[in-house]
Amino acid sequence: MTRVFSGIQPTGNLHLGNYLGAIRNWVRMQDSHECLFCVVDLHAITMPYTPATLRAGVREMTAALIASGLDPARCILFNQSAVRVHAELAWVLMCTARVGWLNRMTQFKEKSGKDREGASVGLYTYPVLQAADILAYKATHVPVGDDQKQHLELARDIAQKFNTDTGIELFPLPEPVIEGPATRVMSLRDGSAKMSKSDPSDAARINLTDNADAIAAKIKRAKTDPEPLPSEPAGLAGRPEAANLVGLMAALTGQTPDQILATYGGQGFGQFKPALAEVMIDVLAPINARFTALRDDHAALDAVLAHGADRARAIAEPILAEVHRAVGFRG
Ligand code: TRP
Repeated sequence: MTRVFSGIQPTGNLHLGNYLGAIRNWVRMQDSHECLFCVVDLHAITMPYTPATLRAGVREMTAALIASGLDPARCILFNQSAVRVHAELAWVLMCTARVGWLNRMTQFKEKSGKDREGASVGLYTYPVLQAADILAYKATHVPVGDDQKQHLELARDIAQKFNTDTGIELFPLPEPVIEGPATRVMSLRDGSAKMSKSDPSDAARINLTDNADAIAAKIKRAKTDPEPLPSEPAGLAGRPEAANLVGLMAALTGQTPDQILATYGGQGFGQFKPALAEVMIDVLAPINARFTALRDDHAALDAVLAHGADRARAIAEPILAEVHRAVGFRG
């Protein structure tokens, strides 16, 4: 049996990096697998936040996911805090995970920065909650961007140790699913940094809410180098910005970088960029239109989340009951 689970934070808008790196895979998987997709509002409070922004962010992300092609009739779409099992299972798994394992997590080091002592305890245990998200459903496959590899390894280690400690093969070991040519979409201003919703420069990313003019302008301004495009991928070595734009073209058209360079090799960016912008606008315009139509329909969005949470609970509650029995809780 396979079951797919993935999560996304409700902070900020979806951008092209989220879409090509993860969401597009989610959309594909909902046709062939049982899928749960979760807006992780419990994770969102591990960093400074405001309640009103969080509330709006959950709805916005839900609208953006549906606009991107997730269909609540074909997948279970819900927000994490609506299903109490996540937090409850996280506690049990915190007693399975080891401090030494969490101390190796690079995302905690990045997010806590210089003020590690001032970081929330929740930020430190974030990857255990993430493991609980996955294991609460005995999910077997987890489509994520490649920055989540380490957290997935940890989820596997926790599942393994739980099974060993209790002597029950309760959890399957979840597999990361990291695919697609553009799993790492880089900033348009710096080819060595990831495209990110926290980049202070909006010109560094393409938001799914950007209209055609904004997309064209950002691609036009995207950092490049003065050389024409090479005719093979080897010629992109040491040219991170050029490689990123070629990778984007490949991901958006479903071609390989080889094929893109066979077509555009020898051309300068003055020719390539308008072609890239056109393809990008074609892909994003329908998403943008659906998002605009949905984002203010709070009743519809809340109904989708409530229904998704009911379905999620129906799967997770019996699994939590198994966990309780396995660890020796009465009940
Ligand atoms: N940490 C993930 C991210 O930042 C989001 C996430 C939370 C997640 N829980 C998850 C992803 C469970 C996959 C499975 O992208």
